[in-house]
Amino acid sequence: MTDRIYVAPSILSADFTRLGQEVEALKSYGADYVHLDVMDGNFVPNITFGAPMCKALRPHSDLVFDAHLMVEEPSKWVKDFAEAGADIITVHAEADRHVHRTLQLIRSYGVKAGIALNPATHHSAVEYLLDSVDMVLVMSVNPGFGGQKFIDSALGKIEAIRKTAEKRGLDIDIEVDGGVNENTAKLCRDAGANVLVAGNAVFKAADRKKMIETIRGY
Ligand code: DX5
Ligand code: ZN
Repeated sequence: MTDRIYVAPSILSADFTRLGQEVEALKSYGADYVHLDVMDGNFVPNITFGAPMCKALRPHSDLVFDAHLMVEEPSKWVKDFAEAGADIITVHAEADRHVHRTLQLIRSYGVKAGIALNPATHHSAVEYLLDSVDMVLVMSVNPGFGGQKFIDSALGKIEAIRKTAEKRGLDIDIEVDGGVNENTAKLCRDAGANVLVAGNAVFKAADRKKMIETIRGY
């Protein structure tokens, strides 16, 4: 697996009245990705923003734009996010009857494809998808809101997916999302996650740069 750990601050916890500046500053804090939480009020009980936000923020940063689509039938929005400048598009296994096809669609735009699993979804759900993805996103909270408590069972799931990927010789990224902070980050890294999303922990920190270093572990 890749040795590098990537930190992906979720702008869900940023100041929405000055999102451009918030995203611009992330590079100076040492962030690697900009995590965009897209919610449709249907797949999850909250609504955030869509591809126009991704497009508006794109000129503000050259970091990796990591679009996490928490929407029903995500295939409908893949083209829009690809054209809006997303570098990774992640869709939920639970939200799409033909998720394999959607992953192929994402890659057809030259964008990295991610598959996300809710806390209640078994890791075997990615068994037949691992060859078709660049990243698996393990949710460590029920999606919909920032600032929730980390669900420990995510750790065993990360371990299982990392083990399977290694056995099959696949160098995929494993992203963990929800409740990642200075305490839980190490557990996630030790379990085999190499992309760590953090919303509240980063944006509510007095020293965001230091928090990102702590989450990365170096
Ligand atoms: C939850 C989102 C997460 C969330 C992370 O639905 O997918 O990205 O905003 O926020 P924290 O780090 O505050 O749990
Ligand atoms: Zn997310």
